[in-house]
Amino acid sequence: MTSKEIKIAYIEYESLDQLDPQDRELAEAAIEATKGSYAPYSGFNVGAAVRLDTGEIVKGANQENAAYPSGLCAERTAMFYASATYPDSIIESIAVTASQNGILCDSPASPCGACRQVMAQYQTKGGRPMSIILVGGKKIWKFDKVDDLLPLIFDSI
Ligand code: THU
Repeated sequence: MTSKEIKIAYIEYESLDQLDPQDRELAEAAIEATKGSYAPYSGFNVGAAVRLDTGEIVKGANQENAAYPSGLCAERTAMFYASATYPDSIIESIAVTASQNGILCDSPASPCGACRQVMAQYQTKGGRPMSIILVGGKKIWKFDKVDDLLPLIFDSI
């Protein structure tokens, strides 16, 4: 028997101006994307923005529905739209943020398990690491690859 440990690495920033210009642009696009959120039930407005290898930025926001499971998270809205619209492009990076009552949440918005799995799929499809930037008002976290948010990724089939 061997006891093993998995470590994840990420960088914490205190403000948007500490990010490199490309990441900052993506983080700001995610904040802008919260305006597209339709969240009449939770009041939790999530915005996501993905950067493609072409440099194009695609935005998405959570969409809720009276039949709750029919809604979709911001991250998947953005990634599905990006892949459906630009099927030959690679998603290089995704930024996520959330606000309530028009105010950016202090803590970074952490993607749900289903969104992490979808990130993993597009990372595999793209054949290169997808970085993830989780944007809060008081701190920002950057992960270099989906594996850091979803260790032991399921990609066996
Ligand atoms: N939500 C997202 O958009 N992304 C996540 O990763 C977690 C949750 C949305 C779904 C729902 O509209 C609201 O946040 C409350 O759960």
